[in-house]
Amino acid sequence: METDSRKESLADSPGLIESGNLPRHIAIIMDGNGRWAHRKGLSRAEGHREGVKVLKPIVKECSAIGIDVLTVYAFSTENWARPQGEIDALMALLVEFLRSETAELKSQGVRIQTIGNVAGLPAGAQAALAAATQETASQTRMVLNLALNYGGRDELVRAVNRWLDENRPLDQETCLTAHAVASHLDTAGLPDPDLLIRSSGEMRISNFLLWQLAYAEIYVTETLWPDFDPVELHKAIFAYQQRVRRFGGLRE
Ligand code: FPP
Repeated sequence: METDSRKESLADSPGLIESGNLPRHIAIIMDGNGRWAHRKGLSRAEGHREGVKVLKPIVKECSAIGIDVLTVYAFSTENWARPQGEIDALMALLVEFLRSETAELKSQGVRIQTIGNVAGLPAGAQAALAAATQETASQTRMVLNLALNYGGRDELVRAVNRWLDENRPLDQETCLTAHAVASHLDTAGLPDPDLLIRSSGEMRISNFLLWQLAYAEIYVTETLWPDFDPVELHKAIFAYQQRVRRFGGLRE
């Protein structure tokens, strides 16, 4: 079953991705739901609904091809500035997604996790997240990491404050290290993203994973998120596989 769906999507791809050189961690900025809806004369909420529909096959494909972690930017710390109706629609879609998809994700070996300040979400969203993370906690094939009420700056400030809480009172010799920062981030224990995909053509990272994206390869597609599909995912991975990653060093 898994192999069949992989063959289909690979057959449609512009180039065959190499199974030995996959990004371990893919992060996605799912942008363009609003523009997609506007072009079709639909509401922004309807654009987000299509955006959620697209997420399902992407998660499935990532799990099928052997990606370890998929992090998706579902709601940022800045998204609270949107009209209340749009915020409510996004929260309702999140709850609906978790209620309807958790069992299937579990059957695909997907563990649901979150990054961001989840305590700042509405109670219903928090309850649905707690249930989904608990139900999938023992799955080991892939992590689906939902960035919710997430901002890179907010995450860094919370990480440093957590470290301070653990180390107070500070003596003269105690210093914050890069390792201490990384291990206090919401992503502690996860590898840094190898590939950042942004849909809808915008060339910015929008406060997403500011620390963790230090050496990620960036792939931007003009495709609006509701039109993104597993073939687009393969294009992004194929492009990643053509890159030479030097991490600040020299090519051998
Ligand atoms: C950006 O598009 C997208 C968002 C702010 C939300 C992304 C959320 C989803 C795809 C669905 C929710 C996810 C889950 C897990 C239920 P935009 O609205 O900024 O688009 P625009 O730039 O065209 O206006």
